[in-house]
Amino acid sequence: MTDMTKKTFVWSIFTRIFHILLIICVSIAYITSDFDNLLSFHAAFGYTMVVLFLFRIVWGFMNVRYSKFSDFTFNLHDLFDYLTHIFHPKKSYIGHNPAASWAVVAMIILGILTGMSGALVYGTQEGMGIFSFLNHTYFKEMELFEELHEVIANAFMLVVLAHIAGVLVDKFVHKGDAITSMIDGTKNANATNLILTFGQKIFGFVWVATSILFLLYLLSSSDNPLLKDGNTHINYEQEHALFFEECSSCHILYPPFLLPENSWKIMMNNLEDHFGDDASLEEVDRLSIKNYLLSHAAQHSTKESALKIMQSMKNKDTIAITQTPYWIQRHKNIDKALFQSAKVQKKSNCKACHKNFEHGLLNDKDIHLPKE
Ligand code: HEC
Ligand code: HEC
Repeated sequence: MTDMTKKTFVWSIFTRIFHILLIICVSIAYITSDFDNLLSFHAAFGYTMVVLFLFRIVWGFMNVRYSKFSDFTFNLHDLFDYLTHIFHPKKSYIGHNPAASWAVVAMIILGILTGMSGALVYGTQEGMGIFSFLNHTYFKEMELFEELHEVIANAFMLVVLAHIAGVLVDKFVHKGDAITSMIDGTKNANATNLILTFGQKIFGFVWVATSILFLLYLLSSSDNPLLKDGNTHINYEQEHALFFEECSSCHILYPPFLLPENSWKIMMNNLEDHFGDDASLEEVDRLSIKNYLLSHAAQHSTKESALKIMQSMKNKDTIAITQTPYWIQRHKNIDKALFQSAKVQKKSNCKACHKNFEHGLLNDKDIHLPKE
C-alpha cells in the first residue's frame, strides 16, 4: 500500500509552466481557428505549441524522473488492464499511468504535425510564412492542405479531450491528485522525490524562457520569417495607368484576380450599361483595359480568393463579385447594418473592411471591421 501521508515531488516547476503554457496556446489556437481576421494569432500560438513540444521531447530523454519517456508505461497489456478497470484500478501509478503515457506521446506527435500542416496551409493558401513560396506551385492544393490540417488538428483535440476525461476520472473516481500535482508539483505517495541536476535546471529554464520569448516575438512583430507576408503589394497605377484611372473613378479599384476571364469579357463588352451607369470608353482604351483584365483574371492568380470565387461561380456569368456564392457565404455572418453604415455605405466598398484591398492584398490579417 502506498503511504498516503507523505508527499512526493514529481513535477518540476518547468514541467508545470510548460503545461500551463501549453493549455494557453492550445486553447487560444483552437478558439481563433474560426476567425479569419485572427489568423496571425492562431499561427503564433500554434507555432509556440510546436516549440513547447519540441523541447518536451528532449526533456523526455534527459533522465528526469517521472517525466522521462522510459518511465512511461507503454505496455499494451497494462493499458488494457488500466482501461478495463478504470473505476477500480488494480495498481496506482505515480508518474504517468498507461493511458496518460499513450495520450502524452500522441499529443506530442499530433501537436507537432498540426503545427507543421498549419504552416503548410498558411503558405499554400495565404502566401504567408516560411512556406509562402509554395503558394506559386501548390495553390491548387490549398484545400487539400487545409483539410489535412483540420483532420490532424481534430485528432489532436480528441486526444486532448480524452486526456482531460482521464484527469477528471482521476479526480472524481480515483479521488487522485493529478490536477493539484500539476500546480504544486507533488502527489500524495511514498516514493522517490524528483531531484533535478544543474544541467536539467538550465535546460528547463531555457525551455520555458525560449517559448515565452518566442511567443512574444511572434505577437509583437509580423515581420518575422514564420508569419511574414509573401504577397506583393501591387501598384495598379504603375501596372496599368488607364485601368487605374478609368476603373476607380466611380468606385474603389477592384483587383482583376477577383473575377474570372468570362466575367471581365462580359463586363468589358457592355460598358454602356454597367450596373445602370454608362462607363463606356474609347475603343482602344476599352481593348487595352480588357486585355489587361483578361490576362490578370482569377485563372492566372494563385490567391485563395481568386481560386475560391472562381470555383464557387461554376461557370455562371456573374459579373459582380458581391453576387458570387463564395463572397455571399464569407460575408453572411456580418451584420447587414454595418454594410449600410456611414463608414462602409455599400457591400461593394471592400476597402472599408479590407485594408490594402486596392493594392491587391486580401489577407486575413488585413480584415478590420469599421466601428460604427
Ligand atoms: C460611370 C461610373 C463607373 C465606372 C467608370 C466604372 N464603374 Fe464599375 N460600377 C459602377 C456602379 C454604379 C456599380 C454598381 C454599384 C457598386 O457596386 O458600386 C459598379 C460595379 C462594379 C463591379 C461590381 C462590384 C460588386 O458589387 O461586386 C465591378 C467588378 C466593377 N464595377 C468594375 C469596373 C471596372 C473594371 C471598370 C473600368 C472598366 C469600372 N467598373 C468602371 C460604376 C462605374
Ligand atoms: C463590412 C465589412 C466588409 C466588406 C464591405 C467586405 N468584406 Fe470581405 N470580409 C469581411 C470579413 C469580416 C471577412 C471574414 C469573414 C470570416 O471570418 O469568415 C471577410 C472575408 C472576405 C474574403 C475571404 C477572406 C479569405 O482570405 O478567406 C474575401 C475574399 C473577401 N472578404 C472579399 C471581399 C470583397 C471582394 C469585398 C468587396 C466586394 C468585400 N470583401 C467587402 C468584411 C467585409
